Amino acid sequence: MDTVKIGIIGIGGIANAAHIPAYLQDKRTQVIALCDIDRKRAETAKKKYFKDAEVYEDYMDLLANEEVDAVDICTPNYLHAEIAIEAFRAGKHVFCEKPDAITVEDAEKMYAASLEAEKVLMVMRNNRFNENSRYLKKFISKGRMGDIYVAKTAWKRRRGIPGKGGWFTTKELSGGGPLIDLGVHMIDLTWWLMGCPEVDMVSGNTFCKFADSDVKDSAHADFGDRVENGIMDVEDLAIGTIYFKNGSVLQFEVSWASNIEKEERFVELYGTRAGAHWDGSKDEIYYENPKGKLCTHIVNHNDIIGDHALNLLNFIDVILGKAQPLYTPQQGIEMIKILSAIYESAANGGKQVKFAD
Ligand SMILES: NC(=O)c1ccc[n+]([C@@H]2O[C@H](COP(=O)([O-])OP(=O)(O)OC[C@H]3O[C@@H](n4cnc5c(N)ncnc54)[C@H](O)[C@@H]3O)[C@@H](O)[C@H]2O)c1
Repeated sequence: MDTVKIGIIGIGGIANAAHIPAYLQDKRTQVIALCDIDRKRAETAKKKYFKDAEVYEDYMDLLANEEVDAVDICTPNYLHAEIAIEAFRAGKHVFCEKPDAITVEDAEKMYAASLEAEKVLMVMRNNRFNENSRYLKKFISKGRMGDIYVAKTAWKRRRGIPGKGGWFTTKELSGGGPLIDLGVHMIDLTWWLMGCPEVDMVSGNTFCKFADSDVKDSAHADFGDRVENGIMDVEDLAIGTIYFKNGSVLQFEVSWASNIEKEERFVELYGTRAGAHWDGSKDEIYYENPKGKLCTHIVNHNDIIGDHALNLLNFIDVILGKAQPLYTPQQGIEMIKILSAIYESAANGGKQVKFAD
């Protein structure tokens, strides 16, 4: 096999912004099927990019197309597990947008279905593929940071609630607000840089203070369709701490809306030999030279094709047997466990939730 035939399910914001451009520049992939319950979206993508693709409204019909080797799920979160499990039953490889699923049980079922089908399961972790993240990961792996004992991460927006009133802000359909939407990016990236240590316990608090505001100042708020007078029963800010069995601690803050000056996202790592600050566009690494003088090493890689595309290309490489995945489904399950435990803690006023020994 040297070409992978792809079916994309859900032709909305992220499919158009990141997935379609990735496939268009990878000669080893051929998008042969497009599915959206809003047929016009699939038809538009066919007309613009994939003239020979079949168009479907029901994903089960796409899965019945025997030519499709792999599906790429870009639907609202609550559908990820259901579609992935059906896709494995139909013998397809699966790439799925983040978050893996909205419950731990669903994430586990997805993984079990992939094992039974002996097909690849990967979920988008595009921030791991950011060139600056990978530089930092290599630097850490060489032991140059020493032991990382404290980490802080945030993705904070001033006003950036995506698809307000629609599926993003409806708990039953999204699984939650910025904790599951942005936390799955930032907590995952930080945890991965720290070497995926085992969790001991978590605590967190969630707030919703901007459900009545319609102001937007973030391009990220353009994901998902807004629904006038729709539902907003998720948090707009989450804050908390993850304690690891090796004694290290990760503090996080994620928000779609808060009274800060402007949007920012970062990872900060405190190691015994060096410290680091990542902001997506560069790494700053701080260490002392043998004379005790502070040195700052700045690394500034530009992603030429983008981290989402690099993540999708890794999926294709894994299917073709040319690379190892930079994400494993077990790590995905652990991440959903962490996020779910933080929601549990928040529902109990921030009480710590202990993980099994
Ligand atoms: N990795 C990232 O940076 C990133 C960014 C944005 C969104 N996402 C994720 O991507 C997914 C989609 O988000 P989006 O912003 O593109 O949302 P969106 O609402 O713009 O697109 C979702 C699409 O799925 C379609 N859809 C809904 N139910 C369907 C079904 N049963 N069968 C087929 N199609 C169906 C909708 O009609 C819509 O076109 C979400 O899981 C979200 O968390 C990831």
